[in-house]
Amino acid sequence: PCDGPVHSVCSPMPSSMQPAMMMFSSKYWARRGLSLDSAMFDQQHRGAQTSRRTSFGRIEETSDRDNKVQADDTGKTAVVFALKNEVGCLVRALRLFQEKHVNLVHIESRKSKRRASEVEIYADCSCSKQEFGDLVHHLKQHISIISLEPPEHMWSEEEVPWFPRKISELDQCSHRVLMYGSELDADHPGFKDAIYRQRRKYFVEVAMSYKFGQPIPHIEYTQEEVKTWGVVFRELTKLYPTHACREYLKNLPLLTKHCGYREDNIPQLEDVSLFLRERSGFTVRPVAGYLSPRDFLAGLAYRVFNCTQYVRHSTDPLYTPEPDTCHELLGHVPLLADAKFAQFSQEIGLASLGASDEDVQKLATCYFFTIEFGLCKQDGQLRAYGAGLLSSIGELKHALSDKATVKPFDPRTSCFQECLITTFQDVYFVSDSFEEAKEKMREFAKTIQRPFSVYYNPYTQSIDLLKDTRSIENVVNDLRSDLNTVCDALSKMNKYLGI
Ligand SMILES: [Fe+2]
Repeated sequence: PCDGPVHSVCSPMPSSMQPAMMMFSSKYWARRGLSLDSAMFDQQHRGAQTSRRTSFGRIEETSDRDNKVQADDTGKTAVVFALKNEVGCLVRALRLFQEKHVNLVHIESRKSKRRASEVEIYADCSCSKQEFGDLVHHLKQHISIISLEPPEHMWSEEEVPWFPRKISELDQCSHRVLMYGSELDADHPGFKDAIYRQRRKYFVEVAMSYKFGQPIPHIEYTQEEVKTWGVVFRELTKLYPTHACREYLKNLPLLTKHCGYREDNIPQLEDVSLFLRERSGFTVRPVAGYLSPRDFLAGLAYRVFNCTQYVRHSTDPLYTPEPDTCHELLGHVPLLADAKFAQFSQEIGLASLGASDEDVQKLATCYFFTIEFGLCKQDGQLRAYGAGLLSSIGELKHALSDKATVKPFDPRTSCFQECLITTFQDVYFVSDSFEEAKEKMREFAKTIQRPFSVYYNPYTQSIDLLKDTRSIENVVNDLRSDLNTVCDALSKMNKYLGI
């Protein structure tokens, strides 16, 4: 609501209040029908008309100060307080902000719903906890404050676990490997194979050197690796027509056409990533080994899937104790090319950002029983969409047999099911559609305790935190623009159909 800066260089207002003043013009206040200190604002408005250049200079100074303050123990918070709707009340209140060194970032007013003679002031502040405490103390004492309502979660950002706010920060998540793919257990089929171990180290180096935005390095797979992949590919593709869901069956031929999914060729992650980007907005990136659930799920929030590039040991092509490129390429990738599945996957990722360890664990379990071991019902038959099933001949057959226990997917209960790593699952969960699973996840996500909502901004590939009116307003503006496009399309259709 800004028609230009309205503060005056000769204003009696303290310089720390300038950012708040920037937000207002006299029109802004007039629209709200308030008499609040109108003389002061009018004066400021006139000042701005004649000294715009200087005004801009002053704003920059204030921004610098903002940055400096941010570097200390400063946090952002907000306070809502009620004032009598009288001339001078707001000035007196704001003067206290200056005296207590509390920087005002944004203020708004509204008519009080409780008392007609009052107005309520919402003030976004930037200051230390102590400064804010001081301010609150003095506001209560000196001004005719009717009520004071600091928001529930002030300075809560400090308590929220770190999460990537833009897609390039996923480098930190993907490089925080818990167990490297080169660290093989004693019972690993490749444990005593020095050449295999050396090869696995090479894949670790490739993944650890990779940074967001770079093309994924081309791997020259050995004949032995291609042969191993070939066995897996041949055996699994025999089962897919009767066991895989329809989305999988639709995308597999496309991957053969565009990414070289063939028995005699291991597809390159770079080709797969470009293909996925066009189909669903997902991309993949190489990863060196196991990530924590938090770091892995953070990737999904950005529609980024962490993929291993190494191939399982050749002595047992139909068994692997850990995810390998056969699992990623045959299990995950065909589904990631489906728009609805992509949305569902991202939904789990978004719910995990900034969530508590306990909630991340619940989400990781939901991920496990859907994206890794999920079943769906299509044309009255059970079909697999989970990558752990679609890359394992034995478990794929088992999960769709009479021996398996199948229950409806419900995140509220599925999140407590034990995930089994070395044996088949005790229980599999079935969803009618990805759409349905996504809606259930969305409902479940609402139960997660976070002092904000997250919104993925696809233009900047970053996460916006929705925790105040301004951030929500930005999203609403985007939605409004999308709705206009839809309305326009509908009206054209109606015209065409003569309705
Ligand atoms: Fe997987």
